[in-house]
Amino acid sequence: MNVTTLILGAGAAGMMCAAHAGPDTLVVDHAKAPGEKIRISGGGRCNFTNLHTAPANFLGQNPHFHKSALSRYTQWDFIDLVARHSITWHEKTLGQLFCDGKSPQIIQMLRDEMTTAGADLWLQTNVGEISHDGTHFTVTLDREGTRHCVTARNLVLATGGKSIPAMGATGLAYDIARQFGHAVTDTRPALVPLTFSDQRFAPISGVAAPARVTANDTSFTEAVLFTHRGLSGPAILQASSYWHEGEAITLDLDPNASLYDTLRTQRQTEGRRALTTELARHLPARLVDHLAPALALTGNLADQSDARLSQITDALRQWQLKPTGSEGYRTAEVTLGGIATDRISSKTMQSRDVPGLYMIGEAVDVTGWLGGYNFQWAWSSGWAAGTAL
Ligand code: FDA
Repeated sequence: MNVTTLILGAGAAGMMCAAHAGPDTLVVDHAKAPGEKIRISGGGRCNFTNLHTAPANFLGQNPHFHKSALSRYTQWDFIDLVARHSITWHEKTLGQLFCDGKSPQIIQMLRDEMTTAGADLWLQTNVGEISHDGTHFTVTLDREGTRHCVTARNLVLATGGKSIPAMGATGLAYDIARQFGHAVTDTRPALVPLTFSDQRFAPISGVAAPARVTANDTSFTEAVLFTHRGLSGPAILQASSYWHEGEAITLDLDPNASLYDTLRTQRQTEGRRALTTELARHLPARLVDHLAPALALTGNLADQSDARLSQITDALRQWQLKPTGSEGYRTAEVTLGGIATDRISSKTMQSRDVPGLYMIGEAVDVTGWLGGYNFQWAWSSGWAAGTAL
């Protein structure tokens, strides 16, 4: 069987690419349904883009690589597409756009666009051997027990990263890229909860507090969630992309830097109030109880000198913690790193070395922050390849 373009992976990037590729396109996926990560994303409502998408919201060894695709297919283009399909949405927080309805609306939209473009979709299809004769790729496919040999001028790698293997994530794109001489950077789980070997936060599991979390000089101010195994919540997930094993992170539990002045003011009028009672008006009470022994939070407000209040607020603002690890690919939202971008055209996503080989989406060494940025990369890179095919 011959096609012009064979796309491996019917996830966000693969479907977007197929929607813009020519009619003679086949998309294959080993899963039972396309876009499974879209379906479960955003708590079932798909955080499909971010109003504030900008190059600074992405990590990768080349900080410029993602700029071209993101500037040519922007968040506004995707919002237009969503509007054309009558999908309504709302901004939850920090520019994050979610469907008013459910994530399958986005999957259906992409399927409809693929149908309009004339692309074919094969599910439950396993990818076997791949060869290239200089102009065409020959790929062995096993579709529900039947072997097919497909020849294509273009081969698009869109099988994503390694996060959540239980959902079918594999390193297939990395293996194929290596087969054709492309390097793959070190990869690690990102947007992932951090863990401690001693379960120190088990007693306050479920407590959440706003904080500024800093890892490797990059800070995020959002909620932190204490869990049985360690730390989670958006601020921690964001920081996890910048954290390396063996390093400490810093929690600032007073991100507005107002606590010292507040405690001094309260000391004048509420001097007989216990220090822990006052602190529990600004931080979760269970967290204050947890911190009380280590910070020696005893006595009334009137007992505390300015120096002591300063010492306490400094400790709350510079809480250094050294996680022992992360929850790993089992729960990570994305894979940091991937196919090195140095031998890929940032305009078309085509290999500079193997004509007709394209690499898009999470498989590539471009990783977005939490908040719709990773889908925007999938849309932008998928569009860049699709319109170049
Ligand atoms: P994606 O993983 O979507 O697709 C890859 C496809 O390839 C899959 O269909 C898979 O079955 C297939 N495949 C893999 N190996 C294969 C093989 N060997 N053979 C055949 N097929 C194979 N991002 C965001 O911006 N907003 C959000 O709300 C969320 N929420 C979210 C929640 C959860 C729980 C996760 C795990 C992730 C998110 N993300 C997210 C991240 C987002 O889902 C991710 O970045 C994109 O789906 C990446 O799109 P891709 O198309 O590159 O890979």
